[in-house]
Amino acid sequence: MTFKPATWPRKLRSQEWYGGTSRDAIYHRGWMKNQGYPHDLFDGRPVIGILNTWSDLTPCNGHLRELAEKVKAGVWEAGGFPVEVPVFSASENTFRPTAMMFRNLAALAIEEQMRGQPIDGAVLLVGCDKTTPSLLMAAASTDLPSIIVTGGPMLNGYFRGERVGSGTHLWKFSEAVKAGEMTQAEFLEAEQSMSRSSGSCNTMGTASTMASMAEALGMALSGNAAIPAVDSRRRVMAQLSGRRIVQMVKDDLKPSDILTKKAFENAIRTNGAIGGSTNAVIHLLAIAGRVGLDLTLDDWDRCGRDVATIVNLMPSGKYLMEEFFYAGGLPVVLKRLGEGGQLHKDALTVSGQSVWDEVRDVVNHNEDVILPLDKALTRQGGIAVLRGNLAPLGAVLKPSAASEHLLTHRGRAVVFEDIDHYKARIDDPDLDIDETCVMVLKNCGPKGYPGMAEVGNMGLPAKILKKGVTDMVRISDARMSGTAYGTVVLHTAPEAAAGGPLAVVRDGDMIELDVPNRRLHLDVSEAELAARLAGWTPGHERPESGYAWLHQAHVEGADTGADLDFLKGCRGAPVGKDSH
Ligand code: FES
Repeated sequence: MTFKPATWPRKLRSQEWYGGTSRDAIYHRGWMKNQGYPHDLFDGRPVIGILNTWSDLTPCNGHLRELAEKVKAGVWEAGGFPVEVPVFSASENTFRPTAMMFRNLAALAIEEQMRGQPIDGAVLLVGCDKTTPSLLMAAASTDLPSIIVTGGPMLNGYFRGERVGSGTHLWKFSEAVKAGEMTQAEFLEAEQSMSRSSGSCNTMGTASTMASMAEALGMALSGNAAIPAVDSRRRVMAQLSGRRIVQMVKDDLKPSDILTKKAFENAIRTNGAIGGSTNAVIHLLAIAGRVGLDLTLDDWDRCGRDVATIVNLMPSGKYLMEEFFYAGGLPVVLKRLGEGGQLHKDALTVSGQSVWDEVRDVVNHNEDVILPLDKALTRQGGIAVLRGNLAPLGAVLKPSAASEHLLTHRGRAVVFEDIDHYKARIDDPDLDIDETCVMVLKNCGPKGYPGMAEVGNMGLPAKILKKGVTDMVRISDARMSGTAYGTVVLHTAPEAAAGGPLAVVRDGDMIELDVPNRRLHLDVSEAELAARLAGWTPGHERPESGYAWLHQAHVEGADTGADLDFLKGCRGAPVGKDSH
């Protein structure tokens, strides 16, 4: 921890708009005054942008305007000037073709909203899956002092006395209906029980994972990730974060001070300990790319390999975020990692303290939720990075969500050329498939879908589910919801639409998955594979204009974070020319 606070007072960038007596200053202040702001608010105090991803169509963030009021209260208390700014909000459950296609667009728009306006520091008000990484990417590229406040998870769902986890039970129930174990009417009855309150998914899905990643990176105050959306302590957290960002601006504590390689290694290990989403791989690689850090897929395997999954939450375990909060939340996990020599204790956080200073005295209140090491869900909880002739640039698998008996498997490929082909074929009674086969889905990567949809956890054929089989090896260039589970190989790179070997897998090929040895192999000769690749031509139409064109033309592979190539790096927040 080498951070030295800047001297205060000093002139902030917002004074380039609001300071002085020039015509332009009067213009900028004068228009703001139509909202009733007194003149002395423009005296050089920190202007804090509360970047709010609230939207009625992002239901997971539907309560963020109320939370913004608490952030504002904190900013006022600390002597700042809060301004609430609505920003691009990509809902995981609404946006088509997939919210992931808009993560980079959101990051681009928000970066410019930060840079082009009189903002000295930002509170990033986020929750739903893509909102957290997109705002972190924007903050990293502007390098303005920033702090994350997440909206918090929903309360536990219950259906007929059983816990119901967001997403996780959607997949479970829909497979139960296909298997004839649940009626459609029961499924509909379960619908409301899945979403009992405001907030994001209550499982350790991508939203909870990214909230945990933000905290483990040091970009949120300690304890932020797990507080339920409707708990009064969520509002306290918002207010405290509002206070804190004002001091961060005075100290000039920036994302580049916090987002170091050590911070990312802490986050990767944390992801293993919590059984976090595979989506964190892509998002952390992209955020690291924005601060110019050399973070790779190999770092994921190296750092995560020996981390035990000790958080007993769905989809890997039994409980939900509400119980995680009552048990002590992420600080307990970070403390465990620290005690086990798996945490860079001196990594700096937004509090100005080291991560270890924040967590060293916390207590685990429930050892059935945050497990002792000898009862870990798995001893190797990190993300497994697979390579081989089917994934020369890598593919990922989450061991804690996979079936032990399938981690080493050889099977016959059943190939789906794209998601429509899969949907058309999967329940065809004549489909030649059994539970030993390997399901292969192509053209669902960053360029292919486009946007890399969460379709990698393909549902099994009804005829196999009816035998009581619940898992098969599945391979694709897609992503998978953080709430999903199964022996699912994801993010295969290069993707099929970019001419990766996945594109030339054929029905009947034999595929070998060997997770302990990190291997993914297509059992055809080198010559045969080379001949097939030489004969490959792109099979999908390309958008001719609009954002879809921009995305497809510039998106990079999943192995480096699927950012747009021209957005990587930190551009800072220089004050541009005035418009008048
Ligand atoms: Fe928004 Fe899960 S769909 S948090």
